[in-house]
Amino acid sequence: MPHHIPTSGRVVAAGAAGVLALGVLAAGSPAVARPAPQHHGQHQSQHQQSHKPAYKNPRLPVSVRVRDLLSRMTLAEKIGQMTQAERADVTADPTLVAQWNLGSVLSGGGSVPTPNTPTAFADMVDGFQAQALKTRLGIPLLYGIDAVHGDGNIYGSTVFPHDIGLGATRDPKLVEKVEHVTAIETRASGPNWAFAPCICVARDDRWGRTYESFGESPKLVERMETAIDGFQGKSVKDLSHPDHVLATAKHFAGDGLTTYDASKAGTGAYPIDQGVDQVSKAQFAQLALAPYVPAIKKHHVQSVMPSFSSVDFTNDGLGNPVKMSANKALITGWLKNQQRFKGLVISDWQAIRQLPGTYSDQVATGVNAGIDMFMEPYSGSATGAPQFEATLTSLVNDGTVSMARINDAVSRILRVKFELGLFEHPYTNRSLANTIGDKAHHEVARQAAAESQVLLTNKSRTLPLKPGRHPVYVAGSNADNIGNQAGGWTLTWQGGSTNVIPGTTILDGIEAEAKAPVTYSVDASTPVPAGADGIVVVGETPYAEGYGDVGGPQWAFDPGDNNVPRPAKTMMLSDADTQAIKTVCAAARSCTVVVISGRPMIIPPDLLGQIDSLVAGWLPGSEGIGVADDLFGHHRFTGKLPVSWPRTVAQEPINVGDANYNPLFRFGYGLRD
Ligand code: BGC
Ligand code: BGC
Repeated sequence: MPHHIPTSGRVVAAGAAGVLALGVLAAGSPAVARPAPQHHGQHQSQHQQSHKPAYKNPRLPVSVRVRDLLSRMTLAEKIGQMTQAERADVTADPTLVAQWNLGSVLSGGGSVPTPNTPTAFADMVDGFQAQALKTRLGIPLLYGIDAVHGDGNIYGSTVFPHDIGLGATRDPKLVEKVEHVTAIETRASGPNWAFAPCICVARDDRWGRTYESFGESPKLVERMETAIDGFQGKSVKDLSHPDHVLATAKHFAGDGLTTYDASKAGTGAYPIDQGVDQVSKAQFAQLALAPYVPAIKKHHVQSVMPSFSSVDFTNDGLGNPVKMSANKALITGWLKNQQRFKGLVISDWQAIRQLPGTYSDQVATGVNAGIDMFMEPYSGSATGAPQFEATLTSLVNDGTVSMARINDAVSRILRVKFELGLFEHPYTNRSLANTIGDKAHHEVARQAAAESQVLLTNKSRTLPLKPGRHPVYVAGSNADNIGNQAGGWTLTWQGGSTNVIPGTTILDGIEAEAKAPVTYSVDASTPVPAGADGIVVVGETPYAEGYGDVGGPQWAFDPGDNNVPRPAKTMMLSDADTQAIKTVCAAARSCTVVVISGRPMIIPPDLLGQIDSLVAGWLPGSEGIGVADDLFGHHRFTGKLPVSWPRTVAQEPINVGDANYNPLFRFGYGLRD
């Protein structure tokens, strides 16, 4: 893929980069189908007649509105646009939104109002919006949230399979539908911006965010980028419709390509998440940058979030890893100049604070690298958002950051706000609110869950089970736990075993479809009835980020999960699950094992020998019944592995195309029943 390989041409000097990008912007975006003005003179006189500033005139092209608004703004107002605070920072005193001239507010994982309902959420966002509209120029807010598998933070939303399961479906149309439903539910409950999809290519399943990847092959990830169409619509002009939100391609770039650092395992640090890509430029282009090309050119994604990870092109681990938030060559040079990305670049959660130097150095590096908006939570009078604003103001005043760079950043932010129609419709359009979590949306989630199941073994055609033929015996830690089957980013940041959302567990689905007596015993301690078909649903407990790393930190308890203890992750089945499999497989007439997890888990050969049918179920979300649909033949297995399934953890990283490739099940494998 030589055209994806960054060339030396991507390095552009700071001032030049800003001016160049601004030039492109001012020339107008051909992708934007807005009613064009007849000629310049006419909209001038229109503007004079209405006494309305040009930026408030929806009939003018976005580029004209951006230029007009920018020309009216003070430095403080511009820097405010570049600042994103967290919901908790402005909840006690929403007037801070106006005082700080904020361009945006986000909800971090689990950051929700009380009560946590779509209506309360929309009311909260509208309250912040009212503050933004009270500012001198009345520039509306962007409100961002991690709608990564449905709008999972908000109770009552439809929760879909995580991306790894969507990758298994190999169904780009379905993925588009899933994210369209997500967009509807997200926008109807207030936010107009989803921090999704992750277009990461997960190369090492020990990474605690593997579940956020559509798969280990960049081609597969690219196919699933219809997700962006689902969020934003097929063209930028669709963004202003009440059924769409701004999407974010994240994490730019190489978040799934980091090297596992064994020296960190067991120390409480993250061995792989937020780590370093030790690769050649060609590998980086192929495995990290490639998915951004169609995301920008074909799907017109309008925001990009740089990764917490670093890249070290020396490939020897001894070079100078550069954090992506500081990577001017890739953000300004490659993304903005070479790929002509016109949207906005949003930093990740306090990401610039991981850069070297003082806070002033960190802000200067981030802004000059090309980041346009800064996610700065934990705001107080001298922390977070206000600290960022004061620091950036000094940097502009002393010439460290040019006005051209500020104008480029603000133009991009304003442009997206105009495209979203926020100046005309700043408040939540509630017309679709009654569809949040409705039957039709749950049906899409059920279909996605059913299509994501991958059948790995099927001795004597055990599956599908025939409804009504035999009693059914169900066991295992994930058979009846909706929090576990939904995974991270569900009500809380890391998700939790005690997090309960509307939907069906896998056991509920089995009970609805077995048409025979169902016995459930989590640890298989209840005797297995004679002649029963056994189903053991095993797997992982939830995690979202670094904590999910194999060999990563152990959390004694997670306050977001009712203090349930969280052991370190291993990719191995728990002893209890292994024992349940052995017990059921020894006693039942047939034994099916469903693995509910964000990545492959190790199935030792002796255990595999005892299992009749093995299913990779991923993290199916709120519709456990979709899993039962495959088990009982309501839907035939069609899923294919989105990642290689290793024999041992020691085989990691293992990926299709490797020399001596010898996984337990290869990438793309999946039986039909
Ligand atoms: C927030 C998340 C965020 C994380 C980053 C959490 O406290 O809830 O939204 O991604 O911190 O460390
Ligand atoms: C994650 C992002 C997320 C952000 C906001 C970060 O910790 O890396 O993926 O969008 O938090 O919650």
